[in-house]
Amino acid sequence: MILRHSGLIAGACILLLATGCEPPGKPKQQEVNRRDIMDFGTLYRENCQGCHGPDGKNGPGRPLNDPLYLAIVPKAELQKVITNGRPGTAMPAWALSQGGPLTDKQVAALVDGIESHWAKPVNFNGAPVPSYYASATGDPDRGRKLFVKDCFACHGQGAAIGPVTDAAFLTLVDDQLLRTAIIQGRPDLGMPDFRMLNAGHPLTDQDISDLVAFLASKRPVTPNVQNANVNASGAAQSDPMVKGNEGSGNGPGSPRFQKNEGNKGGSSQRGVK
Ligand code: HEC
Ligand code: HEC
Repeated sequence: MILRHSGLIAGACILLLATGCEPPGKPKQQEVNRRDIMDFGTLYRENCQGCHGPDGKNGPGRPLNDPLYLAIVPKAELQKVITNGRPGTAMPAWALSQGGPLTDKQVAALVDGIESHWAKPVNFNGAPVPSYYASATGDPDRGRKLFVKDCFACHGQGAAIGPVTDAAFLTLVDDQLLRTAIIQGRPDLGMPDFRMLNAGHPLTDQDISDLVAFLASKRPVTPNVQNANVNASGAAQSDPMVKGNEGSGNGPGSPRFQKNEGNKGGSSQRGVK
């Protein structure tokens, strides 16, 4: 038995060696074929699904299968972020020119596929549409007050959803992710979008910038963090606001969260036609 196994293994090794023996610099046939894949479903499944979720939602990363998100994000940004990734975050670069595995045509097929499969007209119900990019400098002090009012119930320190004021979390994401998250919410996981986040009313563009400035002010000072508005408010980690909520019952098991959980796709999608 053991001998036969080692024979198999030796055989496999020879095979591996043989495939490793192609002239350097020339892409292997298999790779060339992979570069011909243009089907959106296959490209998405093989490259994006692990982080952005099956069918573009319910993953650890941002949901891309969301009409509100796609109504707000510029197409050029989709192209840019897929091509280059977001340096300093977990979003890798995908284009061959940036060291990724995909051709420019495959990146374009992903952008077109995301839009043609997942974009739909959105009814904003008269709420002024915030811009995807921050257009104004945020005021972290005002953002802090908004956070206590509009976010603390779900995101206070100790809440099981995750304290988004945590230094560890903030070090891994850039300000655009924070802005995207506040505009889009997490329709798949029960976070309402900007239209409902101001105690059932829309957050304004300025509100969103202020909230981002507040969260960014909690990011530890590191030279490499992009556009970090670090400690503009002088807010330190010992801020009493993020303390003392431990076990306050705002976690997913609490009645309050279940109410919101039960609202999945409710408040956030009511306006989506
Ligand atoms: C290893 C995990 C991972 C994989 C795989 C991945 N992403 Fe991402 N992606 C992220 C993270 C994390 C962010 C947020 C980065 C930030 O801005 O902080 C992100 C951000 C994005 C954004 C921008 C969201 C916004 O703020 O507007 C788009 C679009 C996107 N990814 C598309 C894709 C596509 C398409 C693929 C497949 C080719 C892919 N991603 C694969 C982790 C991943
Ligand atoms: C009804 C509960 C609820 C409220 C209110 C709420 N959130 Fe969330 N939020 C969530 C859930 C659920 C998630 C997803 C957590 C996860 O990824 O496991 C989330 C995720 C986030 C994320 C992380 C996004 C990412 O992709 O990593 C940020 C940032 C965030 N919320 C900011 C805010 C801010 C700022 C407010 C107030 C304006 C707010 N949230 C209000 C429930 C809520």
